[in-house]
Amino acid sequence: MADIQSTGAAAPIVIRRSDYRAPDWLVPDITLDVSLDVLLTRIHATLSVTRNGNHDRALRLDGDGLVPLEVRVDGRALDAGEWTIDGGALVITLPTDTHRIETLVEISPQANSKLMGLYASGGLLCTQCEAQGFRRITFFPDRPDVLSRYRVRMAADKATYPILLANGDPVGQGDLEGGRHWAEWTDPFPKPCYLFALVAGDLACNADSFMTMSGREVALGIWVKEADLLRTAHAMKALKDSMAWDERVYGREYDLDVFNIVAVADFNFGAMENKGLNIFNSRYILADPETATDIDYDGVEGVVAHEYFHNWSGNRVTCRDWFQLSLKEGFTVFRDQNFSADMGSHAVKRIEDVRILRAAQFQEDQGPLAHPVRPESYMEISNFYTATIYNKGAELIRMMALMLGAERFRAGSDLYFDRHDGEAATCEDFVLAMEEGGGIDLTQFRHWYEQAGTPRVKALLSHDAASATVTLTLEQSMQPTAGQPVKQPMAIPLRTALFDPATQAHQGDHLLMLTQEQQSFTFAGFTNLPILSINRGFSAPVILDANRSQADLTFLSAHDDDPFARYEAIQQLMVNVLIGAVAGQPTDEDAVIAAIRNTATDPVLDPAFVAEAIRLPSEAYLGDQMGQVDPDAIHAAREALQRRIGADLEPIWRDIHDRTEANGFSLSSAAKGARKLRNSALAYLIASGASDGPAIAFSQFDRADNMTERQAALAILANGISDEREAALDIFYNRYAADPLVLDKWFQTQALSFHPDTVALVEELGRHKDFTLANPNRVRALYGAFTANQWAFHHSSGEGYRLVADCIIALDALNPQTAARLVPPLGRWKRFDEDRAAKMRAELQHILATTGLSRDVTEQAMKSLE
Ligand code: TRP
Ligand code: ZN
Repeated sequence: MADIQSTGAAAPIVIRRSDYRAPDWLVPDITLDVSLDVLLTRIHATLSVTRNGNHDRALRLDGDGLVPLEVRVDGRALDAGEWTIDGGALVITLPTDTHRIETLVEISPQANSKLMGLYASGGLLCTQCEAQGFRRITFFPDRPDVLSRYRVRMAADKATYPILLANGDPVGQGDLEGGRHWAEWTDPFPKPCYLFALVAGDLACNADSFMTMSGREVALGIWVKEADLLRTAHAMKALKDSMAWDERVYGREYDLDVFNIVAVADFNFGAMENKGLNIFNSRYILADPETATDIDYDGVEGVVAHEYFHNWSGNRVTCRDWFQLSLKEGFTVFRDQNFSADMGSHAVKRIEDVRILRAAQFQEDQGPLAHPVRPESYMEISNFYTATIYNKGAELIRMMALMLGAERFRAGSDLYFDRHDGEAATCEDFVLAMEEGGGIDLTQFRHWYEQAGTPRVKALLSHDAASATVTLTLEQSMQPTAGQPVKQPMAIPLRTALFDPATQAHQGDHLLMLTQEQQSFTFAGFTNLPILSINRGFSAPVILDANRSQADLTFLSAHDDDPFARYEAIQQLMVNVLIGAVAGQPTDEDAVIAAIRNTATDPVLDPAFVAEAIRLPSEAYLGDQMGQVDPDAIHAAREALQRRIGADLEPIWRDIHDRTEANGFSLSSAAKGARKLRNSALAYLIASGASDGPAIAFSQFDRADNMTERQAALAILANGISDEREAALDIFYNRYAADPLVLDKWFQTQALSFHPDTVALVEELGRHKDFTLANPNRVRALYGAFTANQWAFHHSSGEGYRLVADCIIALDALNPQTAARLVPPLGRWKRFDEDRAAKMRAELQHILATTGLSRDVTEQAMKSLE
């Protein structure tokens, strides 16, 4: 543990999974009477409480910053001496086993800058309760295994807040004196308090309906500011598609008569699955061709699906405690990934998901914040909404689905949903349902939930001419991580095929189960050494070292019939060249050029796949392949290869760019693929150094009828130094200054750029009149993007570290959750040279020395110093 004696932060309390105990008191029913006002909101709560089990412990209702103005038990007002406040919680000793508890509190939505609990955003009042925000609204046992039926009555000024929404179904409304009105909602499904939500505001509705498979009609509403109504069509389509998909693929239908979604501008995460009332970051609802890129459209579709799918994987079956978070998040990410794949291209979706996994989760595993999919301890649960819980969690479900096959996986998921409906379950419950429903033994597989770190798998293929057999020898290992010095071997499913170079075919895909530290598999009937295609479809989230020759990779880049493996082969060719160049070794650039030429000119391939395959690995990914990251050498090598690919294949890039010019916008897969490839071609064309490059980019920027092409051209121009760069940034700013989501792109594009002065530009942008720490999207657009810009963030001056640390300190005073998410990039110091490492550590220490630092940032900074 880092020495925190000299710091401004007190060591936060550690919560352990092994300490779980069933709740002392249950709350079958709760009634909330909420008198809304932006400055001062009064909450009168009535809880029916029942003693759970035989004990004499007091009732403890969590609270965070609340002062009880009134406490009643069974109608009688308590004297001040009859209750106590302990660590924010209200503690009452109760004589018998069932009671009615009433509390009255006042809170200020306007003063709530943490965006947890009840807060104001753009004239609306809304709530965010996951994970522990409900305790900032009223006194309650704020844990996911206490499930209650909610009745919510809201009152508010009718002119300012004409729309009043809560979970479940509306049951009444009416006018009050003084221009106020009220509305009442009830939710028949018992739920944990983290799924509570209400919204008040002047909202317009995109109203639609959906007929469920059992013939019930559900009223759908997407609520936004009037001016944004026309940008909700894609979200509505995604919602209806998701509802149909969950019926078709999982047999799960929606269960209330109403399903509402509200978009808000200030939101700490992507969106929230509150029962019957999802609340979204507006960036995952609003989309039109002028303002949203194809990636944004896909983000809307994926997040709408994700939150909708939580209705079963999260709400009907919720989590027993927060250590089980991946039970709902990993499974729901898996579900939204498969939905998006079904809506578009399976191959491209898998490539994108693996790219995200490697960029975010593999990095997390390599650093001091590595943790298991089911963690053993935490200080602040908000810090555990991580790529490990979400994305690696999804990979675990994917591996189980692969091992079981579609039918048995469905049998497992049916058993899980039916057995635990209405309950708060554990990851172990899920695995047990898969074992029983699917008929499989997952004993060893459970290590995936327990052990942090990314397994490494070495693969070696050898041929025995005499017996005409080949033997594949596999070896697995795992680096130690914090608290886990020694690892057990994992059960790793590897889809494998052996290609005959003569026929360019293989005789079927094998699912090999690597379960030992070292294991061999022998295949008969090979007169020659075949070419190994392994971890096809990225069947397991591992780092593979197959040490294949450039010739084998070239073969696979042209002939592998598994699209992921084919993509991977080209990527590996590029990685070999780039890592070789960084190390100053001779490299085989010709192989890369040839593979890219073949891929880019193959008329059979999906253009979206081509765009993925020919894309250079990111600087961060290259860094991950090195013992010690050298940001400058990586940048130089990557730029050089890009220039060479650009110049050698210039006619191809010109041809693609010309031929993919569309007339008229469409969201078809073909049109999206064409735009994606067109933008890749433009990037290579500029990289070639052709003198008309900037003009071509500017013309695309200027003439585009969609944001995908406009932003890509802007980003390409932003990387260089040219008049066109400055002109495009100005035009973009002036055109979109009034649209926050597009202005975010303006900040983000500059923060991600390879302009030589990026560090100084980001510092300047931090003082721009449109920059604000109050809006998490804006913070992420500038500082979040900047930390992802390896070359700039890790500038040898250390100025990048200072900028981010200063931002973290300033933001922590307003919004600890969002501030804490900027810490991990500073925690990767072990991966860099001594000088950079010292500068990163110094900034972490500087952060920890801040007085009044939040638990969120304290945990991340302390762990990052270890
Ligand atoms: N459960 C949400 C999701 O994954 C995540 C989320 C939304 C969240 N808002 C949050 C998590 C605030 C922690 C804090 O869909
Ligand atoms: Zn989720």
